[in-house]
Amino acid sequence: MDAADWNARYDTAELIWKGDPNQFLPAEVAELPVGTALDLACGEGRNAVWLATRGWRVTGVDFAEVGLAKAARLASDHGVEGTWITADATEWTPPAEGFDLVIIFYLQLPAAELARALRTAVAALAPGGTLLLVAHDLLNLTEGVGGPQDAAVLTTAEAVVDGLAAAELALGCELVIERSGRLERVVTTPEGDRTALDTIVRARRMDAGV
Ligand SMILES: C[S@@+](CC[C@H](N)C(=O)[O-])C[C@H]1O[C@@H](n2cnc3c(N)ncnc32)[C@H](O)[C@@H]1O
Repeated sequence: MDAADWNARYDTAELIWKGDPNQFLPAEVAELPVGTALDLACGEGRNAVWLATRGWRVTGVDFAEVGLAKAARLASDHGVEGTWITADATEWTPPAEGFDLVIIFYLQLPAAELARALRTAVAALAPGGTLLLVAHDLLNLTEGVGGPQDAAVLTTAEAVVDGLAAAELALGCELVIERSGRLERVVTTPEGDRTALDTIVRARRMDAGV
């Protein structure tokens, strides 16, 4: 889906993913000291806004400005602020000072484009910063429920780790993979509860500077 497709999808009064954060986010960031956070492909801002309510200074980037307008409204409804930037995650140049946390949730792109978005994410990380990616896993197509039905935009933890290794090489920085694998997420459907399969990767940037 391109930006026009996403803008059309977001062009409703309702929030597509409600206002609540993704269920895996709170536990994954619970131990981190609050600082600056970047939500790459933030959509309607549910995760960025939740982080802001916890004291993080958040920036949300997405190429769909209709989604970003909803993110700004969600932030205002929660009495918090964010910086909202319309940009393509595969091309955007992040600010040089870096973010303490970079999150990417359900940015489903073909492998080469995801690799470019991962490079953006790594370039955005401050030394010591944490990168957290959650996505619909390739196995979800055959053994899960929901999500894109096109294998080309589904991923695996192994593919993400490979993409991060390429970004490390290109940027001359060092990442430590703290977590990589698959998570189960219960989804309520008209036929009852089903299990969706997500990829998760969490990495920490260890070097002193790019
Ligand atoms: C499934 S939504 C997820 C939104 C949000 N991360 C969340 O979990 O609620 C995918 C988002 O990726 C954005 N997106 C897709 N390709 C993008 C790109 N190349 N650059 C920036 N945003 C992109 C879409 O506009 C959409 O908001």
